[in-house]
Amino acid sequence: MLFSKLSIVSKFIKNLPKVELHMHIEGSLMPEMLLDLAEKNKVELPYQSLDDVLNAYQFKDLGAFVDLYIQGTEVIQSAEDFYTLTVAYLKKCQSQNIMHAEVFCDIRTYTDRGLPAEMVLDGIEAGFKTCHQDFGITGGMIPTFIRHLGAEKAAEDWQFYRQHTERFLAVGLAAVEVGYPASLFAEVFKEVKATGLPVVAHAGEEGSPEYIWSAINDIQVDRIDHGVRCLEDPKLIQYLQQSQIPLTVCPCSNVSLHVFEHMSQHVISQMLDLGLNVTINSDDPAHFGAYLEENMQQVQVHCGVSNDQLIRVTHNAIDASFSNVDRKKEMHILVDEFELNFE
Ligand code: ADE
Ligand code: ZN
Repeated sequence: MLFSKLSIVSKFIKNLPKVELHMHIEGSLMPEMLLDLAEKNKVELPYQSLDDVLNAYQFKDLGAFVDLYIQGTEVIQSAEDFYTLTVAYLKKCQSQNIMHAEVFCDIRTYTDRGLPAEMVLDGIEAGFKTCHQDFGITGGMIPTFIRHLGAEKAAEDWQFYRQHTERFLAVGLAAVEVGYPASLFAEVFKEVKATGLPVVAHAGEEGSPEYIWSAINDIQVDRIDHGVRCLEDPKLIQYLQQSQIPLTVCPCSNVSLHVFEHMSQHVISQMLDLGLNVTINSDDPAHFGAYLEENMQQVQVHCGVSNDQLIRVTHNAIDASFSNVDRKKEMHILVDEFELNFE
């Protein structure tokens, strides 16, 4: 763990009604559930105990993380497993006052192992349905293409995704960034856009500002995942200030994957001061040991992000979400009421 864990999350952060826009569903697979599912599905893991798992969660970089993350997904083998995973994550959301969550998933990781693509969508969707009924949480799925597998595989995945567009909030691009700019996926994202679905892409996480430009110019992203390296390019800063493209920043992920060596070096404060459209998210809370609350707490303690800025970040996230106008209005009101009544 590269950011010091502080045990007490402030009352303000705890009670603030929140929105999460950047979370990979398998990134919420907690070590206990990983071991339980491995036993249930008779999968051999290189870990004997919880400590072994936690010790393995030290990552040199994004590539090393993605390898371990994909290995962990071997324990998920049915719609029921996806349901269990989704409900556990959304229960955590409920406990952290998260009103709305948009989660990434992919199918190729499973179809390549001979499992049916439908199990991913059916399980996650059923989990959202249960938790909407039980807790009123809204949200949904954003399927991604795995960029280091290349454009041909993405085009194959799209043949499946395109039959289910009404089940998705958007389509995304994730996994190893460097060497795989968005431009490689221009054709497939043109087809995505033609269906009316929004497009999001990880960009400027490990990759230089050029990767962000490519996401903007080559696939016309509606939202940028991470984007923290934008500060290296003044023209890009200016563009992001003017366009107000939302950036789903994941502070603890960035520190765990050595984009910044310590939370105090994270640039979120500068991004906010520049008026960029920043949101705060957890990315892979199980691997990085931090859900949304803990991410907010970390940037407050180490980067000086104020309560007022957290309110702004939350309004940004509501507007940047793919929920409908009425739900957005409802969520803005909840945040306004919280701000008015907080003592
Ligand atoms: N998949 C899961 N977490 C990711 C991250 N931080 N960057 C790219 N792809 C991911
Ligand atoms: Zn991510």
